[in-house]
Amino acid sequence: MNETPPIRPGMIVGILGGGQLGRMLALAAAEMGLSCHVYCPDPKSPAFAVAAARTVAPYEDEAALAAFAGAVDVVTFEFENVPAETLAFLAGRAPVFPGARSLTIAQDRLFEKRLMEAEGIPTAPFAEVAKQADIYSAIARAGRPAILKTRRLGYDGKGQAVIRAGDDPVAAWRAIGEVPAILEAYVAFEREVSVVLARGRDGGIRAFDITENVHENGILATSTVPAWITPALADEALAIAGTIAVALDHVGVLAVEMFVLPEGAPRRLLVNEIAPRVHNSGHWTSDACLCSQFEQHIRAVAGWPLADPARHSDATMTNLIGDAVDAWPALAAEPGARLHLYGKAETRPGRKMGHVNRIAPRSDG
Ligand SMILES: Nc1ncnc2c1ncn2[C@@H]1O[C@H](COP(=O)(O)OP(=O)(O)O)[C@@H](O)[C@H]1O
Ligand SMILES: [Mg+2]
Repeated sequence: MNETPPIRPGMIVGILGGGQLGRMLALAAAEMGLSCHVYCPDPKSPAFAVAAARTVAPYEDEAALAAFAGAVDVVTFEFENVPAETLAFLAGRAPVFPGARSLTIAQDRLFEKRLMEAEGIPTAPFAEVAKQADIYSAIARAGRPAILKTRRLGYDGKGQAVIRAGDDPVAAWRAIGEVPAILEAYVAFEREVSVVLARGRDGGIRAFDITENVHENGILATSTVPAWITPALADEALAIAGTIAVALDHVGVLAVEMFVLPEGAPRRLLVNEIAPRVHNSGHWTSDACLCSQFEQHIRAVAGWPLADPARHSDATMTNLIGDAVDAWPALAAEPGARLHLYGKAETRPGRKMGHVNRIAPRSDG
């Protein structure tokens, strides 16, 4: 893979997926003198508005995929639910970063958990639930309360059901649609953090500062830097995320979500899940670092040197979910705030419409 020549200004980056992450990747690529070709089945995708070229076709359309591969100089993806076969098909025709291993593992919660086990990285106790009858033995192993999560396709808390004392486990199994799942012990965490790092084609790793995340109803609400975490724990979190990046032979941005347990717990960091892509908890980098996670991802997949991820400011990123986006006029007028809107035509409850980064002079370091 290291033999793939770097992408030069003027060349074309192909992006699978057309959501807000693809949109922000395309904007960053444009600032680097690159242009983007976005491939997405949904004609209303927000990334199309800022891309030089588009393909609207299903991920299974081999003729469209072959034409796309022929039109771009490198392929990446903005979401992990691109079918593995799609990536394999493209990989025979164009350089693809991140590779199949990152995609395959990150799109399946069971594979993720098994990778952590193999690498000796702690997670919540869990068990596979392949069929309804497995749920009882899984509860015996993970205890209650527990969370049943679909192995695949879950996001923003979707595809999850909590099982508390007295709850009927079969109701949870029905609620998630009776699909292959894992059951996880419910973690009484003190806080949630994430590491957003990039790994270059040469294997070099640069991490942004660890971020503290607050979720509401399973959806990320805010991300704040600096995180309230000791330097020793921050170092441990960075080491864990680096181990995962190497184990995946990942190229590009990788996000690792973690739970921080209260002092006194035998292991204070548990990995929750990983994302083989730019991540909502890294959106603050756009305004608090010289190089955003989006530019850093494009640099990694393009074979450019990774940028210095140092943070020059404190930041809190607040997601604008559903009609929270209607506050845009006040946010646009707010000192110290930078508003990012995704250009989605339709506002729906629970839909990410934009975010605002509130920036202040750096309080630490
Ligand atoms: N085992 C758990 N214990 C406690 N809270 C959890 C657990 N799993 C998930 N959550 C909460 O739900 C949020 C979303 O779950 P996550 O597994 O990250 O799925 P998603 O793909 O929807 O982000 C987490 O950030 C956390 O706040
Ligand atoms: Mg998550």
